[in-house]
Amino acid sequence: MTARIIDGKAVAARVHDEVAGGIDEFQKINGYAPRLTVILVGDDPASHSYVKGKERACEKVGISSETILKDASISQAELLEIIERLNNDPKVHGILVQLPLPKHIDEDTIILSIDPMKDVDGLHPENAGLLVLGQTRFAPATPLGVQRLLIEEGVDTNGAKVVIVGRSKLVGMPLTALLLQKGIGANATVTVCHTGTKDIGIETRQADVLIAAAGYPGAIGADMVKPGAVVVDVGVSRVEDSTRNRGYRLTGDVQFAEVVDVASAITPVPGGVGPMTISMLLVNVLRAAKFSIQD
Ligand code: GUN
Repeated sequence: MTARIIDGKAVAARVHDEVAGGIDEFQKINGYAPRLTVILVGDDPASHSYVKGKERACEKVGISSETILKDASISQAELLEIIERLNNDPKVHGILVQLPLPKHIDEDTIILSIDPMKDVDGLHPENAGLLVLGQTRFAPATPLGVQRLLIEEGVDTNGAKVVIVGRSKLVGMPLTALLLQKGIGANATVTVCHTGTKDIGIETRQADVLIAAAGYPGAIGADMVKPGAVVVDVGVSRVEDSTRNRGYRLTGDVQFAEVVDVASAITPVPGGVGPMTISMLLVNVLRAAKFSIQD
């Protein structure tokens, strides 16, 4: 069997068009565009590249965006002050602090300081709690992107066995909460594998839908995949490659070249989940702007 390659870029483009329509309507009614402020601390090249992608996407759909760049030496107090200012600025609808942060800054304290109504990353404990309770206000963009991709590709998760490898707060945990819920694109039987799992292969081989979000390049080989499974690769790692001009290539958690012969459908890296993450961030920014005009 050779798997169908899921085109995340094409699905993301459709979501962009949808969001652009919503932004246009918002702008016409309110006389201003939804606005996102991103805070980027330090000089991690991958983070800079992700943030560039977010800025470009905002521009394309008509979201006004600003990136506040800060040196890695910024103190936690200074960062909290910036967030407080943004929380109190009615012109800012969405706030995103790019992760990871330098070690001297406590990520949880920073996330907790963001106004939950502007938390377009869906990481604030209030939003994480609402998600688990099935009362979603903001869910993180990557899990939303995975769910939307499955829906758009006609993958029926209702009653399906979904195995997620990875339990991060940005992907594995919130994706588990999303897929467990009743309703379209969910209602799955979800198993989560992590570093404490005794034998990951035993779990993954039972998956109708296997979602790799461990952050280890090539962690999922063909022997870990049930024939005919749908495989979604959330991993994006930079692996040294001297044959490329930039000196690296992007690699997922799945050994694509061999899993493509076992799965029925698979997302590539790049061009799979990545573009969907950005699209769903745009959806969240529009959502935040709409919340801001409700009383
Ligand atoms: N770092 C990698 N992905 C993300 C994301 O979705 N949000 C934030 N804030 N940081 C990230």
